[in-house]
Amino acid sequence: MKKVLIADKADAICEKVLREKGLEPVVKTGMKPEELKACIAEFDGIIVRSATTLTCDLIAAAAKLKAVARAGSGVDNIDVPACVTKKVLVMNTPFGNTVSTAEHAVAMMMALARHIPQANASTHAGKWEKKKFEGVELTGKTLGVIGCGNIGAVVADRAMGLKMKVLVYDPVMTAERARELGVHMVGLDELYQKSDFITYHVVINPATKGMINKDAIAKMKKGVRLINCARGGIMVEADIKEALLSGQIAGLACDVYAKEPATEHIFFGMENVIATPHIAASTKDAQVTVARQAAEQIADYLLNGKKTHAINGDKI
Ligand code: MLT
Repeated sequence: MKKVLIADKADAICEKVLREKGLEPVVKTGMKPEELKACIAEFDGIIVRSATTLTCDLIAAAAKLKAVARAGSGVDNIDVPACVTKKVLVMNTPFGNTVSTAEHAVAMMMALARHIPQANASTHAGKWEKKKFEGVELTGKTLGVIGCGNIGAVVADRAMGLKMKVLVYDPVMTAERARELGVHMVGLDELYQKSDFITYHVVINPATKGMINKDAIAKMKKGVRLINCARGGIMVEADIKEALLSGQIAGLACDVYAKEPATEHIFFGMENVIATPHIAASTKDAQVTVARQAAEQIADYLLNGKKTHAINGDKI
């Protein structure tokens, strides 16, 4: 019987589906790299979320490995070129957590506009700081959406429902898709100049790494509010901190960090930063969906050779 390692915490449906399909699931979460290296050769498939990093070294030790499924969308914790070399198929579940992630970004935007986490902490502390927490309305404000794929498109849709003007920058989006979504496509500089809020929904790659830097921030409206529920690596964190201190950026809502888990960070303790621990996709709804999909996809490939949402399918 083929064995599939569930290496990160996933909904119980994952194990159930694998078993029903005739595979042997092994749940071992929270392993250190050396522990994983010691047992990785046993497995035909591995399912991960974001906690496990499948490095080149681990992939090289995975003697029987045929497939990796990411219960989620980002595959930046998997060394895809190493998987290509070892003929290991890498799949993700790109739609399962779209709505949850988009809803978190919208919640972060609302929280930024009305200082909800700060006001909550202050009120619980017995202070009554009505003046301090004056906010701004979203109606009529401009939201810049950078990256308008699955998640960005849902954010844009919800923001239009909130009566915001939505500008989108996405170098691969067609004019037809923009029309379909009812959004206005602009260049990056125009988006920076006109947006009151900017939300990022891009993958991390050489083009997006460090894209929120000094130069980009200088082009933004003074007092802009930023939301990052994409990847920490797109921020030059020191540049953002400087802009938060100067008021060039009025607020940052951040779910992702260059180094995770982030138990210490230069943003922590700043009054104008709202921080969450990479939970945008962490809803019961999304986690059941991505866990089921990852299990089904890996079973389909290991048992029938069927590739679904394969990242490197053309090279395997
Ligand atoms: C994703 O890539 O799917 C999200 O960042 C959620 C996650 O990592 O769990």
